[in-house]
Amino acid sequence: MPGDRKFFVGGNWKMNGDKKSIDDIVAFMKTGPLNSNTDIVVAPPYCYIQYSRDGLPANVEVAAQNCYTEKSGAFTGEISPLMVKDLGATWVITGHSERRHIMGESDELVAQKTRFALDSGLGVVPCVGEKLEEREANQTMDVINRQMKAIADKIEDWSKVVIAYEPVWAIGTGKTASPEQAQEVHEKIRAWLANTVSADVAKKTRIIYGGSVKGSNCKELAKKEDIDGFLVGGASLKPEFVEIVNAAS
Ligand code: PGA
Repeated sequence: MPGDRKFFVGGNWKMNGDKKSIDDIVAFMKTGPLNSNTDIVVAPPYCYIQYSRDGLPANVEVAAQNCYTEKSGAFTGEISPLMVKDLGATWVITGHSERRHIMGESDELVAQKTRFALDSGLGVVPCVGEKLEEREANQTMDVINRQMKAIADKIEDWSKVVIAYEPVWAIGTGKTASPEQAQEVHEKIRAWLANTVSADVAKKTRIIYGGSVKGSNCKELAKKEDIDGFLVGGASLKPEFVEIVNAAS
């Protein structure tokens, strides 16, 4: 449970959906009921941001899954945070493990994207997390601290930052980190923030967990002191997402 931090649940639709399936998601989000004490944000593919924004209830915010580091210009195939904002989205996810490991995004690029999106007025959900071989080699916190440092070096104002801890081995695999495993890392990230940034930022910044979060495991995870919400992939496309939004109730 997050103390006085507001619970935050993000739905990352990844490269899924079409207008018809988005209509179905909008329908179950409208039915809810959605806990008003939770910040709720869904991230459709870029091309459906406007369509999703138009359909979703006003208390569900919309995010982009990525964005570039420039306002505009000759960057074929890229999308600016200003365009994302123009379509009514208010958040962006940066450094998702699929961007880092499939598209080869570096810590530095993720940090630049995070900074530019914040400067453009978006809230940002930077993602960090270790791969299975890194966990097995006891490098979990080395990897996360390195990813955190790159991001933290570029952030001045933390008020619109929500950190997502997503162990790569738990994403889309059905293998959730146990509540204890997740809590252990969340606690260490918060301690890192306290030591490196400030006690105030450590206390106020939400750290959410992602990786095979489902209706059946969300309540146990939500009980942990340093787990302030979730970033949900597969289950955010299904009606059980409502249950996850309400996990802290
Ligand atoms: P998953 O994805 O819930 O399908 O494991 C989580 C994520 O990648 O954000």
